[in-house]
Amino acid sequence: MLKNIFGKSKKEKKSLKEQQNLSNNDLIPSHIAIIMDGNGRWAKKRALPRVAGHHEGMKTVRKIARCADDLGIKVLTLYAFSTENWKRPKSEVDYLMGLPEKFLKSFMPEIMERNIRVQMMGEKEALPTSTQTVLNEAMERTKNNSGLILNFAMNYGSRAEIVRAMKDIMVEVSKGNLNVDSIDESTITNYLMTSQLPEPDLLIRTSGEVRLSNFMLWQLAYTEFWFTDTLWPDFNEETLMEAIHAFQKRNRRYGGLKGEEIN
Ligand code: IPE
Ligand code: IPE
Ligand code: MG
Repeated sequence: MLKNIFGKSKKEKKSLKEQQNLSNNDLIPSHIAIIMDGNGRWAKKRALPRVAGHHEGMKTVRKIARCADDLGIKVLTLYAFSTENWKRPKSEVDYLMGLPEKFLKSFMPEIMERNIRVQMMGEKEALPTSTQTVLNEAMERTKNNSGLILNFAMNYGSRAEIVRAMKDIMVEVSKGNLNVDSIDESTITNYLMTSQLPEPDLLIRTSGEVRLSNFMLWQLAYTEFWFTDTLWPDFNEETLMEAIHAFQKRNRRYGGLKGEEIN
C-alpha cells in the first residue's frame, strides 16, 4: 500500500504523513543515518556475485531517498564505503567506486526535481579521480537546492575524521589562531566533516549486525539506535516507517529527566 502513495504530489505527501501517523513534526527525525549492510549476503542467498547485491542496494538508496524526501526528513546520511572497505577484493572495490556514477546518472533528474542536495563526507582525495569527478559535479549542481540533504559517507571512517580534526585544531593552535583553553566540545564538532549538519536523531543498521563499524562515533553520542535483520537490498519504505515509529516511542533524556519524571 505504501509503495503506491510514495512519490506523489506535494498535496498527497501531506496526507501520506497523516496516514503514517506522522502529523506531529516534532517526532519526525531531522537527520537519519543508515549503515547500509547486507548486500553481500543478499547476493549470496541468491547464488549471485556480491556486486549484484551492491547493485540492488543502489536501488534501495533511491527508494529510501525518495521516501525520506516525501516525509520531510532534512538529512539522510548513508554509509556507502568505509575507510576499512579497501580491504575487500579489488574487483569489489572497483565496482563500489563506480556506483556513485551509476546512481547519479539515473537519479540526477529526479534529484533536481525534488530539490535534493547531494553531499559527501570522507577522504575524497583517496577516491579514484572518476569517482571524485562525479561526486564533485553532483555536489556543485545541487549546491543551491534547499530540500533533503543526501549525504554519502564515502571512504569515511570516524577515527580518521577525528584524527584529521585534531591535526587541524593543532595547526590553528600552533599558528596562534586558537587558544587551548577555549577548546570545548563545540570546537571538536566544528572541525568534523559534519560541522554543517545536525547530529543524527536516528541511526539504522541493517543485516543483523549490531556494531558501529567506525561510523560517526562523536556524532552518535545521543542518537537513538535501531537495528533490523533485514538486508539492505530488502529494506523498503515499510521498514523505514517501522524504524521511525520505534523512534517516536523512545524517551530521549540526554542524561536528564523529562517533566513528568520529576517528582
Ligand atoms: C554493505 O554490504 C555495503 C558495503 C559495506 C559497501 P556488505 O557488502 O557489507 O554486505 P555483507 O555484510 O557482506 O552481507
Ligand atoms: C560497514 O559495513 C560499512 C558500510 C556499510 C559502508 P561493513 O560490512 O564494512 O562492516 P563490518 O566489516 O561488518 O564491521
Ligand atoms: Mg557488511
